[in-house]
Amino acid sequence: MNDHPASSAPPSEPGGEVLATYLSLVAGRELRPDSEQAAAATRLDALARELALPRPTAGLLGRLFGPVLGRRAAPVRGVYLWGGVGRGKSMLMDLFFAQADVAPKRRVHFAEFMLEVHARIAAERRREAGDPIAPVAAALAAEARLLAFDEMMVTNSPDAMILSRLFTALIGLGVTVVATSNRAPDQLYLNGLNREHFLPFVALLQERLDVVPLNGPTDYRRDRLGRVDTWLVPNSPANTATLSAAFFRLTDYPPEDGEHVPAVELDVGGGRTLRVPKSLKGVAVFAFKRLCGEARGAADYLAVARRYHTVILVGVPRLTPDMRNEAARFVSLVDALYEHRVKLLAMADAQPADLYEKGEGRFEFERTVSRLEEMRSEAYLALGHCV
Ligand SMILES: Nc1ncnc2c1ncn2[C@@H]1O[C@H](COP(=O)(O)OP(=O)(O)O)[C@@H](O)[C@H]1O
Ligand SMILES: [Mg+2]
Repeated sequence: MNDHPASSAPPSEPGGEVLATYLSLVAGRELRPDSEQAAAATRLDALARELALPRPTAGLLGRLFGPVLGRRAAPVRGVYLWGGVGRGKSMLMDLFFAQADVAPKRRVHFAEFMLEVHARIAAERRREAGDPIAPVAAALAAEARLLAFDEMMVTNSPDAMILSRLFTALIGLGVTVVATSNRAPDQLYLNGLNREHFLPFVALLQERLDVVPLNGPTDYRRDRLGRVDTWLVPNSPANTATLSAAFFRLTDYPPEDGEHVPAVELDVGGGRTLRVPKSLKGVAVFAFKRLCGEARGAADYLAVARRYHTVILVGVPRLTPDMRNEAARFVSLVDALYEHRVKLLAMADAQPADLYEKGEGRFEFERTVSRLEEMRSEAYLALGHCV
């Protein structure tokens, strides 16, 4: 039996549906036309096709000489997508990742990946005296031929110190890297400690990946947020519905799956974690009672502010004089969110100005009121998350 009747169109190539899928979403008006996105989708489409080709090492020559040479086939050249927030970087990478016909493949948030790498390096050090990076890279390469990183950013020196060697090893082992970032490679880890040791990583990204800007004029996330006021009064079922609709718009999550939004344990440093009851695509949902009603401090709030571009906070009560601890924590939370330009959507029993009418620290609270007002403004909401 012939599975492919000669009269039909040739079967589409495996792994080559990135551009077609993107264009069909535009045609179906789920996405607005955007020439930079179309260009990026074209590049990712080519990458998906290349990844789907049989690997040269699978052939006789590769089998014979691959082990002799001690290396695998030349890696397929990856892509580094960078641009401002809400440009569609994660959306395009997810679309590509779903289409990429390569196994095993792995998509991971870059910050989470680096935590894992440090844990693996520490475990390797306990096992053996030699350089831990090579065995860690080998293990990672065995687990993924395609590594897709969302939100590549470098904010600390331990990461900066190992990235060049780790990624040189991964790419040398045939891993294809795709990444999204808010910054161009040469803008990563700017003014960071010992940046000179980091520069080989910048050179590596520029040489071994195609650097594709995605920096059109439209912040689509802002567009989606545009329809909600960000400080809703009071705590009510109607406002809860508004916030949950905003959550689903921001995360593209089908509302009927609302029960299944994952919770995560966020690493806040010092071996401590914070439970985030709903965490999806850079959006976190918290109840005031848990976030500001328990022994939490600046380190927790900074970890939240770095990890999430949008925080939805529900159940903010009027703060009475006996709630001075809650008020102080709320001040610290708002400071962290503000510093990192995180968008805050809140549901409260009062407007910011009426939230804490009297009590210890009322004077200092005025700054928080002013920040909360600013955080509702068009200008603030147009700013990018800053990590
Ligand atoms: N062309 C587009 N038209 C409409 N919405 C879009 C378009 N591109 C992206 N979006 C939506 O905008 C939001 C932000 O996109 P995302 O990929 O998360 O941005 P980034 O990763 O660049 O910050 C998502 O909800 C996404 O589905
Ligand atoms: Mg993103």
